[in-house]
Amino acid sequence: MKIGILTSGGDCPGLNAVIRGAVIKGDQIYGVKFAGILDGYRGLAEGDMIPLPRKRVRGLSFVGGTILGTSRTNPYERGGLENIKEQLHDNEVDAIIAIGGEGTLSAAKRMADDGIHVVGVPKTIDNDVSATDYTFGFDTAVAIATESIDRLRTTAESHHRCMVVEVMGRHVGWIALNAGIAGGAHASLLPEFPVSIDQICVWVNKAKNRGRAPVIVVAEGFKPLGQEGETTSRGMGNDGRMRLGGIGEQLAPIIESKTGIETRAVQLGHLQRGGVPTARDRVLATRYGTAAIDAVMEEKWGHMVALHGEEITTVDLHDATTELKSVPRELWDEAGILFG
Ligand code: F6P
Repeated sequence: MKIGILTSGGDCPGLNAVIRGAVIKGDQIYGVKFAGILDGYRGLAEGDMIPLPRKRVRGLSFVGGTILGTSRTNPYERGGLENIKEQLHDNEVDAIIAIGGEGTLSAAKRMADDGIHVVGVPKTIDNDVSATDYTFGFDTAVAIATESIDRLRTTAESHHRCMVVEVMGRHVGWIALNAGIAGGAHASLLPEFPVSIDQICVWVNKAKNRGRAPVIVVAEGFKPLGQEGETTSRGMGNDGRMRLGGIGEQLAPIIESKTGIETRAVQLGHLQRGGVPTARDRVLATRYGTAAIDAVMEEKWGHMVALHGEEITTVDLHDATTELKSVPRELWDEAGILFG
């Protein structure tokens, strides 16, 4: 038996740990072979694959990025189902482990419905995949954002400034919420909960009047009340999605003019996606990898490995992809006690 592994969509810390976990268990327990499918669904559509023997995954659990490369290609827009079947047949690949976020898993679900042997592994720093408690990569992103807030706070305090820290989070604010709480921010602005500029200034003034250097964390997908679309000045990505970014720079001069406190913005961007995974992400990713090969051997096509409490289980990809996992109002209200 030969199993193809691919990583697709935006990268995140822990992808290599999944690959390592799957290959080690597949080699040691089941005696199966692996093919590395290069650049996600691009490599599947073009039959671009390499052998993935156990020695190729040595020492990978702490290595960021993905040794297989990634892309935001949709296989149904690059040759379609017949081509996918042909490439799998020509490369003697019997099943696929697809590691990715919502877009990747939706394509995996469609392939499973079309009879392809595929199981999914949920990844994304945004943590927005439903039916799992956590995606790997999220813990690392929160740790990087928190450390950045800690650093920005000391320089803000020296200069008596306000800092606006923009973090990733396209549709959901899990990173902003968690890094904001951990870093002691004076407000966390999430895509799920638009608030007015005046309300943001109330929080800034409250912190300033207590002699603090206000720190505002904002997710890239946040929209101030009354603003229609997300903030972007970078056009479209290859996948036809808007490249988000810039809400921090947009808010800073407005906060400065309305509150009178000098305000600077910092966009953390891809720093949150690069580099070594935290220990927690390495463990989760490794467990996902070993569980994914079990799911393949149990022929759980159209399913995804998931974390429920401390247990790794499998869920139907339908439940994972029908709707995004957003931050519930209660959690944001709970954090709101700390604002201002
Ligand atoms: O989906 C994860 C994510 O990091 C989003 O938060 C962000 O909007 C997007 O990827 C950026 O993607 P890219 O690196 O392709 O611009």
